[in-house]
Amino acid sequence: MSFHVVLIGPPGSGKSSVGRALSKALQVDFVDTDVLIEEDQKKSVAQIFIDEGEPHFRAIEERICCEAISRATGIISLGGGAVLSLGVQDALLNSHAKVVFLDVTLSVAAPRVGFNRDRPLLLTNPRAQWQQLMDARRPIYESLATITCEVGDLSVAKIVDQLLAKVSS
Ligand code: S3P
Repeated sequence: MSFHVVLIGPPGSGKSSVGRALSKALQVDFVDTDVLIEEDQKKSVAQIFIDEGEPHFRAIEERICCEAISRATGIISLGGGAVLSLGVQDALLNSHAKVVFLDVTLSVAAPRVGFNRDRPLLLTNPRAQWQQLMDARRPIYESLATITCEVGDLSVAKIVDQLLAKVSS
């Protein structure tokens, strides 16, 4: 059986760790679009924001995400803001992928993100910024999702168990 699963959600929702664990359980490939962007550009996401600015980052992100989605196999973790792109939204809607929204609250995301890591959009007043991003994006995450998982305080293993049942049906 082939699996095509795309994980969406805000920073700190666990897209990368859940995606990696899910790909191991299903024995399929896993890609994280931030990593693909960094390999393509040969610099970190933070450095791209500094050197070229957010619009440039978003253009590269759109291309890389659309390419990844069109490959139609395996597990993809999308950067938290990738769904802002109409191109990415279209690619998701036109794919047969199961789109999993990892829904998370600020209190769960905050310790995970640490708000001390390399996240250019969360540099000043990170908690308020995170909440603002989530409030603005929630309708998009919800409209694209075919599966929603309330992360709460569930472990990665528990989330993967829940998702295995849902993505296999
Ligand atoms: C972003 C999220 C980041 C990364 C970039 C922008 C966003 O990915 O793509 O810093 O706009 O929310 P994660 O969701 O993996 O942190």
